[in-house]
Amino acid sequence: MGAGARVAAGRPAPEAGAAQPGAGTLLDVRDLRVGFHGGARGVVRAVDGVSFSLRRGEALAIVGESGSGKSAMALSLSGLTCEAGADVQGAVEFEGVDLLAAGERRLRRVRGAGIATVFQDPMSALNPVQRIGAQIAEQVLAHEPLSKAAAAARAVQALRAAGVPEPERRARSYPHELSGGLRQRAMIAMALSCSPRLLVADEPTTALDVTVQAQILAELARLRAETGMAVILVTHDLGVVAGFADRVLVMYCGQIVEQGSVSEIFEDPQHPYTWGLLGSIARMEGERPRRLPAIDGVPPSPARPPAGCRFHPRCPHAMPACKAPVELRDRVGGGRLDRCVLEVERKRALRTRSGAIGL
Ligand SMILES: Nc1ncnc2c1ncn2[C@@H]1O[C@H](COP(=O)(O)OP(=O)(O)OP(=O)(O)O)[C@@H](O)[C@H]1O
Ligand SMILES: [Mg+2]
Repeated sequence: MGAGARVAAGRPAPEAGAAQPGAGTLLDVRDLRVGFHGGARGVVRAVDGVSFSLRRGEALAIVGESGSGKSAMALSLSGLTCEAGADVQGAVEFEGVDLLAAGERRLRRVRGAGIATVFQDPMSALNPVQRIGAQIAEQVLAHEPLSKAAAAARAVQALRAAGVPEPERRARSYPHELSGGLRQRAMIAMALSCSPRLLVADEPTTALDVTVQAQILAELARLRAETGMAVILVTHDLGVVAGFADRVLVMYCGQIVEQGSVSEIFEDPQHPYTWGLLGSIARMEGERPRRLPAIDGVPPSPARPPAGCRFHPRCPHAMPACKAPVELRDRVGGGRLDRCVLEVERKRALRTRSGAIGL
């Protein structure tokens, strides 16, 4: 069974279209640009003009091949790429305040309690020489005027909520004493301890085996339902996208190439790059790939992107028009966006003919 069929059968179609800034908007990202100084490579434009909005409580998946700028984008939302020395431009408005223009104090307040981040490798975020419970309590105390005992109790509660068995005992463990799955849950507990309105999870389960991965994502989905927090999930696993997200943003070489609801992306994908990603799952006959299998050719360097549609050198349907700049806009109707100049009906015919997706 193809991933699209899983979507159609497994979950109600979410509301169509992209979120528009306004009431209910939690995050509004406008023309975000993140550049790293890459030595001989020149400036690496890891994120090159990304705009999107997120509603309160919404789950957005960001997908794309390795190097497409997913992490640079996700980490910029709470100022983490600025700290890493990147040149960050544009606006990241969270609850109406532009975080890129905000001072360090404001950012520190937002981090944790407003936007919490879970990383692919929990060891990079956990302090190896401090007990798990103490680390979580410390974060709680940085945001809330609680007693030490109350913060410690909150840490245990957060570990329990994240599905850590025997949370009182685990709170006294050091990170290296936990399995990979438990460490990731501890990281999620830390992220949830201050009740964030937005959880940014950058490939939170890629390093884990498939069973643990599924358990943790189910836990995240449950916590989202219980707390009403919004989630941005960066992932290579399109199977995860189908079961978890409301909306999908497909990134290629630092830009969004397509954006729409899960059912729109799986059932009527507009950009040939998305077809490639989805076709890879369909060919696997229902098995969930852990990483997106390769599309023919290699992604271009974000230091020297091709002119026009950045995918055109790899696209089997490229035409001369694809070498001219292509904007991201609504070509189908309903508020979804894509960056492909082929006519909508022609795309549908091409997709059917090539069997690009198994629907
Ligand atoms: N600190 C850095 N310094 C220089 N270049 C960087 C840095 N971080 C990322 N890049 C470059 O920016 C581009 C985007 O990287 P990013 O990590 O955001 O991709 P990604 O989509 O998250 O990939 P993956 O799926 O492998 O995690 C890549 O070309 C990468 O080499
Ligand atoms: Mg990444």
